[in-house]
Amino acid sequence: MTATLRQWQSVFDTWADADPNVASTGERQSDRAMDRLAGVLADMLGLCGDESVLDIGCSNGVLTRRWSTRAREVIGVDYNARLIERARELAGGGPVTFQRADAQSLPFDDGLFDAVCCYNVFCCLPDLDFARRAAREAIRVAKPGAAIVLGSLPDARRRLRLVADCEANGRWYVRVLPRSLRWGVKRLLCPSWSPESSGLLWFDVEDFVAELRAEGIAVALHDDPVYANYHLYRRTLILTKPTASEAAADPAAGVVAGATTRGPRPLHQPGSGPTVEGGTR
Ligand SMILES: C[S@@+](CC[C@H](N)C(=O)[O-])C[C@H]1O[C@@H](n2cnc3c(N)ncnc32)[C@H](O)[C@@H]1O
Repeated sequence: MTATLRQWQSVFDTWADADPNVASTGERQSDRAMDRLAGVLADMLGLCGDESVLDIGCSNGVLTRRWSTRAREVIGVDYNARLIERARELAGGGPVTFQRADAQSLPFDDGLFDAVCCYNVFCCLPDLDFARRAAREAIRVAKPGAAIVLGSLPDARRRLRLVADCEANGRWYVRVLPRSLRWGVKRLLCPSWSPESSGLLWFDVEDFVAELRAEGIAVALHDDPVYANYHLYRRTLILTKPTASEAAADPAAGVVAGATTRGPRPLHQPGSGPTVEGGTR
């Protein structure tokens, strides 16, 4: 297990006994904020009430259980066994189930889900190759035509632009941001702070999107939903898996397990490694 994985797992372990809404950012969020985030993501996924949804990296089900009224069936997976136990305790009925699984090797057949969400998980994967494998898995288990949301990728280019703004305009965030957001922004965006020390996986998001498109996947790039301070430096991708006829018409669209070069999927309602080794997690 890499040091990064160990570091993240010890953080995630603490969330099992914490306030349920901590299990998203590590800081307590209000029910309202989580309801709103779940709603924005449900819109991105195009949920109308009759879908089967997979939530990858579901933690204690903080988002998963909120989709029980927006879908026919919701399955949450996470590699942390304690969080899966907690998710089951908190589930509160409805068509929601949880199981332990690793994002890079999902225990599901190809083309099973109408919608797949993996929000705020790519930031804590060990490296880019792992992220590529996780993206392929998310695409593999989605039905043709399904939406796949890969949410909240820390964007290295956006951070650099914000740092340049900071340097040009002084400590603008002190004047502009509420106190609750300042700590995170200072830590993440100050010129003296290095991205490496965050333990986050930073992406050249445009390059990552170009790779997916080169493999035939339609990708729409969005600002992150307004939540914590993420919208300042993170991006959310909505992928669409091509249908069989689209894949046949466009050879590149078959590259990722039957994964379009067609235009990005519109929002329904605009509104907006290794397998974990040797542990029980
Ligand atoms: C920051 S939390 C996000 C939880 C939830 N998706 C949300 O946005 O509120 C990240 C979650 O991803 C899980 N995770 C990280 N790497 C994973 C992997 N390789 N496979 C499955 N889950 C993983 C962690 O255990 C943790 O619960």
